[in-house]
Amino acid sequence: MKITDPDCRVLVTGGAGFIGSHLVDLLVAKGLRVTVLDNFRNGRRENLAEAGRTGRLRVIEGDITDAPTCRTVMAGGVDSVFHLACLGVRHSLHDPLENHHVNALGSLQVLTAARQAGVGRFIYVSTSEVYGAATAFPLTEAVATWPTTVYGASKLAGEHYAAAFGTCYGMPVVRVRPFNNYGPRAHFEGDSGEVIPRFILRALAGEAPVIFGDGSHTRDFLYVKDCAEALVGIAACDALVGDVVNLGYGEEVRIDEIARLIVAAIGRPDLKPEFSAERPGDVPRLWVDPAKLRGATSFKPRTRPAEGLVATVEYYRELLRADPGCLSHMQTRNWEVA
Ligand SMILES: NC(=O)c1ccc[n+]([C@@H]2O[C@H](COP(=O)([O-])OP(=O)(O)OC[C@H]3O[C@@H](n4cnc5c(N)ncnc54)[C@H](O)[C@@H]3O)[C@@H](O)[C@H]2O)c1
Repeated sequence: MKITDPDCRVLVTGGAGFIGSHLVDLLVAKGLRVTVLDNFRNGRRENLAEAGRTGRLRVIEGDITDAPTCRTVMAGGVDSVFHLACLGVRHSLHDPLENHHVNALGSLQVLTAARQAGVGRFIYVSTSEVYGAATAFPLTEAVATWPTTVYGASKLAGEHYAAAFGTCYGMPVVRVRPFNNYGPRAHFEGDSGEVIPRFILRALAGEAPVIFGDGSHTRDFLYVKDCAEALVGIAACDALVGDVVNLGYGEEVRIDEIARLIVAAIGRPDLKPEFSAERPGDVPRLWVDPAKLRGATSFKPRTRPAEGLVATVEYYRELLRADPGCLSHMQTRNWEVA
């Protein structure tokens, strides 16, 4: 059964996380029944509060690395799987073994259970970090992958496992490579903390942005609600089965420019960035060529960067108002966890 069918049963692994929870919001808004499998390592129950009120959401607290859990979750019948559960890039720097265990082996467990359950579509959510040290820009799907971190490498392993399940067992798999996302619910805390929410929260607290390196690194930012919409479009697209597709906005922005835009949006242009030594394995440049996705689906990002930034600043302004202590959960060099 396809995702366009109102009776389609959907599983989202990592559905309590940043991107996963926005995807869940969209799926339940479309009237679909959704199961989330998440161990709440980095996800939050509050992220699913709104979706829970629809009565169409089932949340299972469990670990994707546990085979019986994966089997049980799919036992009642699942038509489409969005696999997002993973541990992130900064985590991979202080705990590469656990990062591999969840991202590569965990993906294999989810794929194995999905095969046994005979799912009709498997969306493997990968990352632009698989391109790593690539040098041909903008990045098309044809560019060779050169991950620079265990995160990028373990996500790429998961991609290859997913592709192999398509080739060997005929599983209808699509591999998606999102570029950087931003928006409400993005992580600022601990080793999950991302650049945009960290810059915003610091500026709201009157502190200068801290840039690792000289600020010349670039990223290609997509508003998270647009990412969710694209993921649903990708799941509905038969032409992408067996294929890999990039998912991003298509504009390259320097990190020092992001810092400048954020302090300007907050009305604190006086906050000049502080510079600190580069993060190991930090990918110098990420800029997507979104042509393949736009050709295969009708997706076009709705949210222009200026609008998305305003909405994101408002979200963190409210968060800080409600919980001024949240700043204590941010560490500056947040990959250097003991
Ligand atoms: N955020 C981005 O900018 C971005 C960019 C490219 C790709 N992605 C990909 O999108 C997906 C979601 O990323 P995100 O930013 O929402 O991250 P996130 O950390 O918010 O979400 C991941 C979720 O997985 C859960 N999880 C972790 N380990 C688990 C385990 N062993 N078992 C069950 N659940 C587990 C976490 O609790 C969390 O809710 C990931 O696959 C990531 O690689 C994200």
